[in-house]
Amino acid sequence: MKILVVGGAGYIGSHVVADLCEKGNDVFVFDNLYSGSIENIDKKAKFIMGDVNSENDLDKLFKIKFDIVFHFAALKAAGESMDNPEIYSKNNINGTINLLNTMVAHDIKKIVFSSSAAVYGYPKYLPIDEKHTIKPINYYGYTKKVIEEILNWYGKLKEINYATLRYFNAAGYDINERIKEREKTTANLLPIVLECAVGLREKLNIFGDDYNTLDGTGIRDYIHVNDLSNAHLKAMDYLNKNKNNLVLNLGTGHGYSVLEVIKMAKKITGKEIKHSVIDRRAGDPEKLIASSDLAKKTINWEAEHSDLEKILTSMWNLYSKI
Ligand SMILES: NC(=O)c1ccc[n+]([C@@H]2O[C@H](COP(=O)([O-])OP(=O)(O)OC[C@H]3O[C@@H](n4cnc5c(N)ncnc54)[C@H](O)[C@@H]3O)[C@@H](O)[C@H]2O)c1
Repeated sequence: MKILVVGGAGYIGSHVVADLCEKGNDVFVFDNLYSGSIENIDKKAKFIMGDVNSENDLDKLFKIKFDIVFHFAALKAAGESMDNPEIYSKNNINGTINLLNTMVAHDIKKIVFSSSAAVYGYPKYLPIDEKHTIKPINYYGYTKKVIEEILNWYGKLKEINYATLRYFNAAGYDINERIKEREKTTANLLPIVLECAVGLREKLNIFGDDYNTLDGTGIRDYIHVNDLSNAHLKAMDYLNKNKNNLVLNLGTGHGYSVLEVIKMAKKITGKEIKHSVIDRRAGDPEKLIASSDLAKKTINWEAEHSDLEKILTSMWNLYSKI
């Protein structure tokens, strides 16, 4: 198959590109390298530098007749999206509209879209399933909500067939070590913990230890990036065989607390991880856990590599080389 991966130089996209190439697909990566790394693109894929904000770049790109599009390109820092919503509107919402309109103009009908657990906002119940209310509490989550709604309309009006995948906390690196460069600017807990282990950071701030959890620290559902990638390939197979659209959570159904993460990181790295507790951060729920029963039912997917030890070990393979 001829496959376009928009944002395929990024953290999750590069893992999916590696898997798509391994399966013998003809893969094209389109990326502006804002946060991606060219070294992480599988050598079998063709790289095209470009921006989803440029209709001209997209028109040139779609001279190639793709069978399906994967869309990873977005800005993803929730905090930054509250300070600077304009760039999130432009990059995430406008960029996706440009991409969809170009797909329509070139009669390309299938897309797998990276959405996020951020569409749900505060959990009303756990685990969160796909029927949970959609009420984002940051602008980043709002951009994903808007794109999901646009996909729904384009599905009805333009016969675009989509799989919307709502990731919980993506973590880990390729267990087969095909990905060489780590993410350089991430605000996620696990990379920060390992940055402390290698001395790139002095210490970790824990935002509150008085939550209603076993050790008082917040709990999140961490999903290994190889599991995420696997779900993308299964979603693609589904779209190739069915006319139905998919909206699926991707998580594990259980979570780890901040202190559990620190303890496991100490065990794996053999390093001290200095930390101190500061005030809770506004907008942080105590627990976020996904139900992925629907993904199991519809695409026969479930997490296989997402226990904390395996996730952190796969990350340590990269961080220990710094
Ligand atoms: N990482 C997570 O935990 C997580 C969780 C939920 C959802 N997501 C979503 O998954 C997707 C991929 O996330 P990631 O962690 O791989 O992020 P990333 O920043 O590593 O990858 C995004 C890629 O898109 C490219 N890009 C950004 N803007 C672009 C533009 N205008 N034109 C062309 N390319 C552009 C970047 O250069 C980068 O290579 C994003 O849509 C993100 O919102 C990520």
